[in-house]
Amino acid sequence: MHDQVRQCFSRHQEILCCPRCQSSLAVGEHDIACPSCDHHFGVQDNIPLLFSPSEWDASKERVAERVRTFYEGTPFPNYDDFDSVGSLREKARQGLFAHLLDEQVPLGARVLECGCGTAQLSLFLGIAPRTVFGTDVCVNSLRLGQAFKERHGLSGVHLLQMNLFRPVFRPGSFDLVICNGVLHHTPDPLLGLKTIAALARPGGFVLVGLYHRFGRVITNTRRVLFRLFGQRLAFLDPNLRARRASPARRRAWFMDQYQHPHESHHTIGEVLEWLPQAGLQFVKSVPRTVPFQPFSEAERLFADEVPGNRLERLVVELGMAFSGSRQGGFFVVIARRR
Ligand SMILES: C[S@@+](CC[C@H](N)C(=O)[O-])C[C@H]1O[C@@H](n2cnc3c(N)ncnc32)[C@H](O)[C@@H]1O
Ligand SMILES: [Zn+2]
Repeated sequence: MHDQVRQCFSRHQEILCCPRCQSSLAVGEHDIACPSCDHHFGVQDNIPLLFSPSEWDASKERVAERVRTFYEGTPFPNYDDFDSVGSLREKARQGLFAHLLDEQVPLGARVLECGCGTAQLSLFLGIAPRTVFGTDVCVNSLRLGQAFKERHGLSGVHLLQMNLFRPVFRPGSFDLVICNGVLHHTPDPLLGLKTIAALARPGGFVLVGLYHRFGRVITNTRRVLFRLFGQRLAFLDPNLRARRASPARRRAWFMDQYQHPHESHHTIGEVLEWLPQAGLQFVKSVPRTVPFQPFSEAERLFADEVPGNRLERLVVELGMAFSGSRQGGFFVVIARRR
């Protein structure tokens, strides 16, 4: 067994557990074993394969399986543009959000990303001295992240295969749990939120990014046009016409946005109803739930805000139809575990 995996397990033994029975895991010569349920988990390219399937009905499992297969063929986001820690940092800083997270997640914090894809955000947050676990069901995506991690010696970041519905961590293990752009590709986003919320410590935070019902209207319209008229209309999407993006990166974006086998759409109001069911308290959303209060460089991500009333929210949510599509029609909610 490679030293990296051994070291990770000995250092973080107290938070790791078997996804099937929650007992402690033992790292052996060739695999990772659960002595309690006698299950053996493999390791590939230094990535522990701790995936355990959800136990739900056949139609939900079909959705989950199609999503897994899709990402194994199209790891997201693509890595082509990154050859150094500097370029990863530069890219992340262009997005205000990653930049603010890096500024405001304390050094030494323990962070979990569920559905990290190729782990660019996990790796970016792990450049500073933090412990970051990047997890995903897709091994091909994790492999790209792992290669980057090893090339650049980012030893505070640990990548492992995990189904977010069957966590390999004990409840209350993290200061921050991030799940960006993932739950809407699962058969049960609310169950997903409840499951990952339990992994944050009391007083810790959960950050979830979801497709917005109205924010996706323009993307959905483009999808229909692309189906009818083919990719010659690609210029309609700003990310597809961006000259700086490599062909591989453009393809990953096209597949993720327009060829995805499963996506659901949500509203901030809906997530506000989910939060108490997941043991969470609202802290902040992007966009804000009060209209005409844009997000700024000085934003305090983890400072409480009072959510706007129904009417204010309605104005914001409807506004997503016009402003939302630029970032893929996303909204983000940050919440605190009670
Ligand atoms: C659109 S990508 C988002 C990647 C990354 N979070 C980002 O923002 O760039 C969605 C990711 O969710 C992962 N995913 C889907 N279902 C999952 C599950 N049940 N458990 C863990 N990851 C999952 C997919 O494999 C894929 O990598
Ligand atoms: Zn077990």
